[in-house]
Amino acid sequence: MMESRIRWTAMFALVFALGLSACGGDANGNSADEAVASTADASAQVADDAEGVEKAGEDIAGAVSKQELPDGVTKEMIEQGKAVYGGAGICSSCHGPAGAGIPSLGANLTDAEWLHSDGSYDGVVKTVMDGVTAQASSSGVPMPAKGGTNISDDDVNAVAAYVWTLGK
Ligand code: HEC
Repeated sequence: MMESRIRWTAMFALVFALGLSACGGDANGNSADEAVASTADASAQVADDAEGVEKAGEDIAGAVSKQELPDGVTKEMIEQGKAVYGGAGICSSCHGPAGAGIPSLGANLTDAEWLHSDGSYDGVVKTVMDGVTAQASSSGVPMPAKGGTNISDDDVNAVAAYVWTLGK
């Protein structure tokens, strides 16, 4: 289908060019040749554009499926992060076992309101890595970096991935 459209476009361009040359073209005598050459260019361009459109379509499809999990996040990481959340990361002690938050302690991690980042996976990684200062904290209670634990960077990424799944 696409091909026949290209052929039609090329034919149209050719007719157009012939029309131009029949009218004498511009002042220099080579205009008919040039017009034909540029018609060939134009139809090649049309074919390229058609390909480009197809590629763009594929890219969009790719982006949509990526939206389900942020770049670099896997289901395994989220599982690991869940274990870190209630285990070595002691996040649950301040944010509650389900992440709903504890008043005057850890913020609710399950709502759409993100106080310290845009709520993106990268944003959450940064918050967990750096913690929250008393000044920045809405309750005046700080969050120590990595919850005050010495969990690895991998664990931070994993627990951030898990927290990202809790938020809206
Ligand atoms: C000692 C208590 C404490 C521990 C442990 C703790 N947090 Fe926090 N967390 C806080 C406080 C306090 C805030 C800031 C709350 C506020 O501003 O009201 C916060 C904020 C956050 C935020 C930002 C929420 C937002 O709305 O932007 C994230 C994400 C977060 N913590 C994740 C974690 C993770 C993951 C862990 C475990 C590695 C963890 N926290 C451990 C106390 C804690």
